[in-house]
Amino acid sequence: MNPPLAAVVLCAGKGTRMNSQMAKVLHPILGRPLAWYPVTRAFDVGCQQVVAVVGHQADQVKSTLSKAFEGQALAFSLQQQQRGTGDAVAAARGALTGYSGPILVLYGDVPLISVETLQKLVQAYRSSKGPLAMITCRPANPSGYGRVLRGHGHRVQGVIEHKDATPEQRLINEINAGIYVADSHFLWGALETLTPANAQGELYLTDIVAKAAEHGEVAVIEADPREVEGVNDRAELAERAELLRTRINKRHMQAGVTLTNPATIFIDEGVEIGPDTVIGANVTIAGECEIGSGVTIGQGSVLTHSTIGDGTDVKPYSVFEDAVVGPRCHIGPFARLRPGTVLDEGVHIGNFVETKKTRLKKGSKANHLAYLGDAEIGAGCNIGAGTITCNYDGVNKHQTVLGDGVFIGSDTQLVAPVTVGDGAFVAAGSTITEDVPAQALALSRAAQTVKEGWAERRRKVLAGMSGDGKKKE
Ligand code: UD1
Ligand code: CA
Repeated sequence: MNPPLAAVVLCAGKGTRMNSQMAKVLHPILGRPLAWYPVTRAFDVGCQQVVAVVGHQADQVKSTLSKAFEGQALAFSLQQQQRGTGDAVAAARGALTGYSGPILVLYGDVPLISVETLQKLVQAYRSSKGPLAMITCRPANPSGYGRVLRGHGHRVQGVIEHKDATPEQRLINEINAGIYVADSHFLWGALETLTPANAQGELYLTDIVAKAAEHGEVAVIEADPREVEGVNDRAELAERAELLRTRINKRHMQAGVTLTNPATIFIDEGVEIGPDTVIGANVTIAGECEIGSGVTIGQGSVLTHSTIGDGTDVKPYSVFEDAVVGPRCHIGPFARLRPGTVLDEGVHIGNFVETKKTRLKKGSKANHLAYLGDAEIGAGCNIGAGTITCNYDGVNKHQTVLGDGVFIGSDTQLVAPVTVGDGAFVAAGSTITEDVPAQALALSRAAQTVKEGWAERRRKVLAGMSGDGKKKE
């Protein structure tokens, strides 16, 4: 059994500077809501339970996070009024009734905190005799942050908020990151003693630092300031996203993925990519995606919630959405795989082919200019250029079913519902409205007529006309 650890993630703030209808902690960053990151890191570092303290747009925040962490030990506490960080942590007490042990405190708007840094913090707490461990750092510009006050023997004595600090204290460049591990008994007790006797009239969580210093030592670890920076407006959101993106890209490269031009590649958190996969410039891989090994993803492609099997070659500018693509397929350039596309091994989908709710079985090919919607296509079929499944009658959608080894000639319309049996052959230019039996030929175009000499006669007639279209005298 892991030693006990719980976390409180503060998500109640208003986020005024986002100028948004959406709660700040729900703004997406690399495909996940801001607060998803600290909650996930809390679980990653070994928390058995996590409490998100919600306030502003509480229902929104709660419903999004409870969906994202379904089945995990995430609980919610409501902070009625935003009376300060100390009050916010105190709001979580009810949700942790019966728990005793260390409590990690995180902010919902600080997405870059790494599990390694949190491990160090928990380690520092466990090896210290005191009731509190905290993260500090030295940013280039400490203005606005709480400053760390140190005394005899460099021991931490407390934290003074910027607004309460004297000019001398404001010269201190060591700041409080706002991330702590505190013993539950100490924490609940210390929070009861807080008063709003400060410049902001708030209940400051930071006041517990001086209390812990009275009890004994405060353990401190110093972190990279970039990890603990929060998000207050959309410019900062973009800055954090940039760093997160760089981190994610680096991790994939170290695991054996080639990123041709990493500065232009966006891969969401949680995407899995196998080794020896090569990703071209300006590619976006968003949402829940799983990419196999030895895959090539051509420049400018955008993949969302999709799976790609080993060795598949995606040519440039292809767009996938909720698609499942098997191994050794050839896709694109300019292919569009819409939701419900399932491609078995070795399928070819060429340029300007659109698929939706359609499965192509092993080795089937649709190499040029086609719309395949609501279709089941057997193995080894050849779908000619310009083929269209007419799946919509204006009210309902209907299925097109092709057996194995079917040949569909170019420029065919398959008017659904319609079935073409195994090995059947549909002649180019046909409009198929009736089922075609296995091994049959279906041909529905008008018979060709040929009029000998017609073109020559027409040219003579035209030559006899004047430039204004009237006949010459
Ligand atoms: C806090 C610290 C400061 C530290 C800084 C690091 C205090 C008093 N100060 O200041 O020492 O340097 O973080 O970023 O703790 N929140 C609630 N409910 C509230 C108030 C805040 O949920 O009533 C949440 C906010 O949404 C935010 C977080 O707590 O996610 C931090 O609150 P904020 O007001 O931004 O604290 P700072 O002034 O930045
Ligand atoms: Ca802040």
